[in-house]
Amino acid sequence: MQTPWEYRYAHRIQTLRSSVIRELLKLTEQPDIISFAGGLPAPEVFPVDRFKDACNIVLETIGRQALQYSASEGYIPLRQLIADNANKEGVSFDINNVLITSGSQQGLDFIGRLFINQGDYVVVESPTYLGALQAWNMYGAQYISVATDEHGLIVDELEKALRIGPKFIYVLPNFQNPSGVTLSLERRREVVTLADRYGVPIVEDDPYGHLRYEGKHIPSLFALDSHYHNLDPNAGNVVYMSTYSKLLAPGLRLAWMIAPEQVIRKFVMLKQGADLHTSTFNQCVTYEVARDNYLDEYVKVICGVYKERRNVMFEMMDEIFPQEVSWTHPQGGMFLWGVLPEWMDAAELLKKAVEKKVAFVPGSAFHPNGVGKNTLRINFSYSSPEIIREGITRLGFLLREEVKTAVK
Ligand SMILES: Cc1ncc(COP(=O)(O)O)c(C=O)c1O
Repeated sequence: MQTPWEYRYAHRIQTLRSSVIRELLKLTEQPDIISFAGGLPAPEVFPVDRFKDACNIVLETIGRQALQYSASEGYIPLRQLIADNANKEGVSFDINNVLITSGSQQGLDFIGRLFINQGDYVVVESPTYLGALQAWNMYGAQYISVATDEHGLIVDELEKALRIGPKFIYVLPNFQNPSGVTLSLERRREVVTLADRYGVPIVEDDPYGHLRYEGKHIPSLFALDSHYHNLDPNAGNVVYMSTYSKLLAPGLRLAWMIAPEQVIRKFVMLKQGADLHTSTFNQCVTYEVARDNYLDEYVKVICGVYKERRNVMFEMMDEIFPQEVSWTHPQGGMFLWGVLPEWMDAAELLKKAVEKKVAFVPGSAFHPNGVGKNTLRINFSYSSPEIIREGITRLGFLLREEVKTAVK
């Protein structure tokens, strides 16, 4: 007898749907397509030799430890390094405030498990990170989308959302995925104050904060919040997350969360149930790679590479895109956000773009309620300047054709 699988799945699985956008994006995986769709770092600058040396050092010095099971909290030297880096913002976290996760995506899933009951509201930016929506849909989240502008979340709108009684606010403060927008200092202060006043935690997701190509670093929400709580690392209102995926290599699947100790203890229990711990070997090797300021120096190198790519993309868009199309000018990160004329549908445009062998992500994917049909996300970190020139030329000519046909 054939197993009737559909009757065996858990209720929550019914929320899993294959999306039109995901189906479309499969088309962009053909090898001859110039893809601005993924959020991939440039593989040609991965520090492969440093990793080779680090693997040898780890195996020679702590090989048996590195190949063994280890604590769910993570490798102590790596947690210490992460706490020390966070404390450069004038706060005072210790390793008990740090949990290593298998990618920030795991952190997002843990947040869903810890905070979201079926039907709970979560405040998100409009647009927001698609992977967070995917993680939290599973737990039955409902979303309150707060409008953003070139300075990030619009604070009056946030206050209205807080009155509805959400479980937490999800914010991507730096070079947001997908829009590239950065939350201004003034608004960060307001967000922290409002969250505190309404007693609603902030989840600060910050994979791109160190990838800044111009302008000055803006203090993190966790740092601003910590000052509201007399720098007590266990009294704050923020769960912070970042990842080595964008700083070193996504294949490591290595990221971290920083939070008050009582919250970290809950995440540790979830971690035990999920995967016991993140790969000991990867943690030891990453520590060996990152130590002695190597990571800071390496980040300067990738910032140089991404800045050049971003600039080439800006130049080409200025030159070729029709004036009916606008886009953000992020000071860092990996993405920019295009806005097409109201009547243009980015998903339809993608089908035509794939025929011309170029791809992007339609913006509606980054909204829980499917709005934003005339928007798109474009990645500039992955393709070489030559490929960017070619890809933006193809996209630009397609956009011109579309505008011309509509005017006729
Ligand atoms: C905002 C944001 N959060 C989380 C992630 C997931 O990162 P990781 O590779 O650490 O799982 C990404 C990856 O693109 C991201 O852009």
